[in-house]
Amino acid sequence: MSGVAAPRIQTVTGEALRPYIPALARLRIAVFRDWPYLYEGAPDYEETYLPVYADSPRAAVVLALDGESVVGASTCLPLADESANVQAPFRIAGIGIDRVFYFGESVLLRPYRGTGLGVRFFEEREAHARRVSACDFAAFCAVERPADHPARPADAVPLDGFWRRRGFTPYPSLACEMRWREVGATDQTPHRLVFWLKSLTGAPLP
Ligand SMILES: CC(C)(COP(=O)(O)OP(=O)(O)OC[C@H]1O[C@@H](n2cnc3c(N)ncnc32)[C@H](O)[C@@H]1OP(=O)(O)O)[C@@H](O)C(=O)NCCC(=O)NCCS
Repeated sequence: MSGVAAPRIQTVTGEALRPYIPALARLRIAVFRDWPYLYEGAPDYEETYLPVYADSPRAAVVLALDGESVVGASTCLPLADESANVQAPFRIAGIGIDRVFYFGESVLLRPYRGTGLGVRFFEEREAHARRVSACDFAAFCAVERPADHPARPADAVPLDGFWRRRGFTPYPSLACEMRWREVGATDQTPHRLVFWLKSLTGAPLP
């Protein structure tokens, strides 16, 4: 980690987050290039996706800032403000869209990992969700990869334990599809992402 001070955490919303969009796009492209996302960054897509967070009045981005540099970020917004493909599995399962606060990505540059910032990302997003909504559940999704995927690094550590320790439960049958072009590929391909849920209010999980 550079510098003497640990990165500071700052939660930004609405117009205040718009100036950070180019830095967020760069961060997503850098971090998601690695296993397990293998995302060949698409700046055009980033420019349409990220403004959703500035446009949604109850969305937030939690930033990790080292000086003026954005070294990590984590996003959230009401599921009601997310795209139809993310809402679809909840509709099919009969889980009210308005009961769910959706946690998007957490991305942190490698030198800053393992010092508690990922835990803070969850704490800050849960606090934000409780502040701006009465949603019963927080939900995020993670890409599913076969155990024998050729690009899986030998030393890859799944985040499942980290997520369980944050209080989330996997729902293997609750999944959405997202398309992106993988590193080295010529076309986009579909990817299955499985949801994890946590109760924010004490309401029983569906
Ligand atoms: C997911 C990600 C943001 C997690 O970030 P991280 O900063 O490494 O996570 P943390 O350091 O907060 O937590 C890791 C462990 O270190 C512990 N830890 C280490 N130092 C700590 C400190 N000073 N304070 C609190 N916890 C600390 C945490 O408690 C946690 O252990 P636990 O699960 O047993 O409680 C990061 O791994 C990442 O960017 N990964 C790549 C992108 C990705 O896959 N994102 C997820 C899907 S969008």
